[in-house]
Amino acid sequence: MHQPHALNVDSIRSTLATKVLGHRIDLFDELSSTNVEATSLGHSGAEHGTVVIAERQTAGRGRLARVWFSPGGVNIYCSLVLRSHLPANRLAEWLSWLPLIAALAAAEAIECVTSVPVSLKWPNDLLLSGRKVGGVLCENNQASPSGPFQVIGIGINVNMKVEDFPAELRASATSLWNETRILVDRNRLVAQLLFEMEQCIEELARHGPPQLALAYQRRCSTIGQLVRAGLADGSELTGYAESISRDGSLRITTRSGTHPGTVIEIRAADIVHLRS
Ligand code: BTN
Repeated sequence: MHQPHALNVDSIRSTLATKVLGHRIDLFDELSSTNVEATSLGHSGAEHGTVVIAERQTAGRGRLARVWFSPGGVNIYCSLVLRSHLPANRLAEWLSWLPLIAALAAAEAIECVTSVPVSLKWPNDLLLSGRKVGGVLCENNQASPSGPFQVIGIGINVNMKVEDFPAELRASATSLWNETRILVDRNRLVAQLLFEMEQCIEELARHGPPQLALAYQRRCSTIGQLVRAGLADGSELTGYAESISRDGSLRITTRSGTHPGTVIEIRAADIVHLRS
């Protein structure tokens, strides 16, 4: 028996405890991508806290121009429209921490609803038993005629069976069902996700990153690991991940390259944990 309940806005609202996030929730059976729909709504002036959810995506987008596998009726594909009213001198901090705190919020929501321990692979992969159970894609729209806004897209593999992943993902991806054999109420998980997101976003806006950075570091299984980092220019380096910098970058002591032992900070990369 493997028949998860459908997503339903009334069911989400029945446990939703947010002040602002989710005041508008648009739920679709199918979209190309919830991030695309949320971006379009943002350009049309959708308010801060608007939420877009789909049962399936036909062109789900991942980081680094990858595809996000998005079968119907089993997982969570959710995007939020955010409009901050922070002064210009805090914009860089906001933009660099949003992806990290979104992953933190998603991990806390999953743990609250299922009691399974989720760790974070820098910058914003959610891991369960070392395999990827979710991810975050943040997109900034600074020059929109409707005013600047950000879209945070979150994908969580909830009730899907690992056999249903494409062959190339089966070794590296997992789902909550696969780890627990418990069918998770996705409506409840969406409500908790929005709640945790709101807490983290409010904390970032009010007090900046210090407390969130501590919570993030505690969950981040990348710290202390030997990692391989694939950089945007196609180059790679290996080294020990030491810590997260004030701007959310990953600080690595290199082991490869022309100057091994150098400490470098990377803002974006594809990280592989080489050893735990
Ligand atoms: C990653 O590569 O880890 C990020 C995956 C983000 C997937 C989510 S699913 C909801 C939203 N819509 C998309 O097209 N992508 C994000």
